[in-house]
Amino acid sequence: MTAVSSPSDANTKPLVQARNVHKSFDQLEVLKGIDLDIMPGEVVAVLGPSGSGKSTFLRCINHLEDIQQGYIEVDGEQIGYRVKNDRLEKLSQNGIARQRRKIGMVFQQFNLYPHMTVLQNIIEAPVGVHRESRKDAIENAKRLLERVGLSEKANAYPRQLSGGQQQRVAIARALAIKPKLMLFDEPTSALDPELVGEVLATMRDLAKQGLTMIVVTHEISFAREAADRVVFMDGGVIVEQGKPQDVIGNPQHPRTQAFLSRFL
Ligand SMILES: Nc1ncnc2c1ncn2[C@@H]1O[C@H](COP(=O)(O)OP(=O)(O)OP(=O)(O)O)[C@@H](O)[C@H]1O
Ligand SMILES: [Mg+2]
Repeated sequence: MTAVSSPSDANTKPLVQARNVHKSFDQLEVLKGIDLDIMPGEVVAVLGPSGSGKSTFLRCINHLEDIQQGYIEVDGEQIGYRVKNDRLEKLSQNGIARQRRKIGMVFQQFNLYPHMTVLQNIIEAPVGVHRESRKDAIENAKRLLERVGLSEKANAYPRQLSGGQQQRVAIARALAIKPKLMLFDEPTSALDPELVGEVLATMRDLAKQGLTMIVVTHEISFAREAADRVVFMDGGVIVEQGKPQDVIGNPQHPRTQAFLSRFL
């Protein structure tokens, strides 16, 4: 992957712009006005207690959820909606699918297709959805498998892999559509402790290579070492954000302090 501009580059536009994002499920307001800009190449770790709205926010970014107020832009395009005759109109399924090509997502549960080999899992979206040639998709998949350290597993089935290996395949699969943005929702929390390290190492590599990443995680040491910025959410708002050494090392808000004290 080619290096992209550093987050401090003053002339670069944010890749992600969230403004006053409100999300409710019926009467329950889960996101209460989220503002967040993310620069190309930036790695943002999102921390916060259970139920604070972290997953919901990630799901709004690739429009797995609609929002009731505010907007989210990725790569200069408003996600899920377009302006027509001065009014906001929901995008068609095609329009949403086109936007999602820019965004890769890795979940807690890896959800690989059990009846497909590792290679078939990775080329499924590029060939089946994005009409890439099979040959190009296979070449790219092999490169990605090398990148996640699983070249020798191309023809294995998911059940023949450990949880950590499956999650690394899921990362390769998400990368196969060549996304500009990667969203990770607690990618290691379903893994046995001894398998967490290999997945975090893969993510550290991606971070170093300049991929823009939003990572919801409870791995405080990963956030401290690999993130450019840490965002702490609670009760559907961003309570505090900043450099990892500040937010984790010297949290200012009592809610951040209380949350982090559990990890000491
Ligand atoms: N589809 C849904 N329908 C109704 N309520 C929902 C739905 N999805 C999430 N919620 C509620 O929204 C709130 C935020 O949930 P969310 O999953 O975003 O939290 P989270 O910060 O990711 O928590 P965790 O750390 O446990 O994963 C919770 O109160 C949850 O019950
Ligand atoms: Mg969650």
